Amino acid sequence: MNYLEMVEQALDRMLPAVADRPAALSAAMRWAVEGGGKRIRPQICLAAAVAVGGMAEDALMPACGIELLHAYTLVHDDLPAMDNDTERRGKATVWTKFGEANAILAGDALQALAFETAARAPRNVAAIIGELGRRGVGVVAGQVEDLVLDRSRATGDTAAVSAAVDYVYEHKTADLFMAAACMGAWAGGGTPEQVEQLRVFALNLGLAFQYEDDLLDGDSPYSQEETGRRVRESTNAAVAALAGLPGDTTFLAALSKRLVGRKV
Ligand code: IPE
Ligand code: IPE
Ligand code: MG
Repeated sequence: MNYLEMVEQALDRMLPAVADRPAALSAAMRWAVEGGGKRIRPQICLAAAVAVGGMAEDALMPACGIELLHAYTLVHDDLPAMDNDTERRGKATVWTKFGEANAILAGDALQALAFETAARAPRNVAAIIGELGRRGVGVVAGQVEDLVLDRSRATGDTAAVSAAVDYVYEHKTADLFMAAACMGAWAGGGTPEQVEQLRVFALNLGLAFQYEDDLLDGDSPYSQEETGRRVRESTNAAVAALAGLPGDTTFLAALSKRLVGRKV
């Protein structure tokens, strides 16, 4: 079974059955998690455990935890008060299908379930939960600043946009990449130094991912050339951070390369 299949199967087990009461909650939670996500963060988590010489299975619960937390951030991000989006992954957003209040509540429940799930790691549970909590707060901080950034964009305040953009990229995106990598490394039995290597890897991968994402969405503050330069620089830094790790880093290195020039 590859990493993606492991994650899909385990997530299915973690989520409540649609018939569970209240049915609207379990259905909305499943709607948020199932179907179409790339599962980048949980795959990084599994591969990080392997990179420190551990087993992917050891990181399966933290991997599900990070994907559940990611799903909650997307449900709330799509709400009318935020991005007011009606479609995600080619289907209706949770609030359009289940109503705003249910979307807020499903997001809340997904976040709580994320911690319950990650806590089922076989070792270093305190470090893993601490990491998830710290980065979970970070992603919210990134979202708050992103709203400010949107207003600066709307008013054409380019100086304010340039000043805020790096903070936003690091927090709204790279924080969950870092949580994924560090939780996986802890779950795989990594040393603090190896966890730090994986944090640097994920920070740079997350930045490269977000530079490309904004370019694909058409709201990059940088020119195509500048984005290309930044993506290459961050990708190289990500790959360099993997040097000397005791386990197999092929998956993580290949993932970094795949993100350069991606179309979705
Ligand atoms: C979308 O993340 C949100 C960002 C941080 C840009 P992904 O592109 O990983 O979304 P899914 O999970 O594959 O849909
Ligand atoms: C979503 O950011 C990031 C988080 C929810 C943390 P965006 O608004 O840039 O991403 P999309 O376009 O909705 O996926
Ligand atoms: Mg959005």
